[in-house]
Amino acid sequence: MAVVVVSGGTNGMGRAFALERAARGDRVVVLGRNRERGEAMADASVTFLPVDLSSVAETRQVVEHLVTAYPVVDALALFANAVAPRRVVTADGLERTFALYYLSRHLLSFGLRPALDRAATPVIVNVAGVGVTKGGVRWSDPQLVSGYSAVTAQLQAGRANDLLGVGFARRSGSRARYVLYHPGFTRSGDRSTLPLVVRGLLAAASVMARPVAEAVAPIHRFLDAPPTAPLTAVDRNRQLPLSFPTLDPRDADRLMDLTEELTAHRL
Ligand SMILES: NC(=O)c1ccc[n+]([C@@H]2O[C@H](COP(=O)([O-])OP(=O)(O)OC[C@H]3O[C@@H](n4cnc5c(N)ncnc54)[C@H](OP(=O)(O)O)[C@@H]3O)[C@@H](O)[C@H]2O)c1
Repeated sequence: MAVVVVSGGTNGMGRAFALERAARGDRVVVLGRNRERGEAMADASVTFLPVDLSSVAETRQVVEHLVTAYPVVDALALFANAVAPRRVVTADGLERTFALYYLSRHLLSFGLRPALDRAATPVIVNVAGVGVTKGGVRWSDPQLVSGYSAVTAQLQAGRANDLLGVGFARRSGSRARYVLYHPGFTRSGDRSTLPLVVRGLLAAASVMARPVAEAVAPIHRFLDAPPTAPLTAVDRNRQLPLSFPTLDPRDADRLMDLTEELTAHRL
């Protein structure tokens, strides 16, 4: 029975993915913030761990718990994200989108490495926006102190996740295969914090969006038959070459250094 950890497994694509893994016989550990939704999912095959993944301390605590409670983890699937229309600073002094959408994934990927390395064919799937070439990491101001917008923050953290895949493959020394996956516009996503007009536009556009089951189908395939390459990048149905401009190894090294510096001060 495979052990599958799902961050952001209480809603949207993560929830659908987690429930389907449990239905297929896996032992699933769901990380999320909403207790009501999480507890409603818990049963013999699903364990819910409530955690605010925008907090470095809470994310570290959950990593510690996971590596103790689950000595072997076969797969880690990363979905947690939330759009912040206004800049929010976490208790750690970090811009929240950076902390939640990128940094929690960094801490989980590197932190679960010992448990992943005990599995037969370990795999990490980071569900973000690989293939998007707009935006990027604002090296001079990664906490977006000036000129914040929700889109800038999403594009920055999305790119940081692309570079996390590259950085993990270069630096972790892990046997875990890293898969960057962009699901495309999907009928999911918490829109409750968005302005009414934007919500209306998204609701109208959602007829064009992919059904959740279709968007998560490739993720099941990544678990059932993990790729042999240390890093794979898939934008919807298209496999991207690792020479793709957003997967620059120098940028990845730079981000890994920056992240180590940032987290070293946040015990
Ligand atoms: N939907 C799209 O069209 C689309 C397109 C491209 C890429 N993506 C990417 O796909 C991934 C999944 O998207 P989705 O549409 O499935 O999102 P979603 O429905 O909004 O679900 C997001 C998940 O993140 C969790 N989360 C949010 N804030 C959290 C926090 N502070 N601590 C812990 N968990 C937190 C939520 O948990 P709670 O409910 O418990 O708060 C929920 O389980 C995201 O990375 C997104 O960027 C989505």
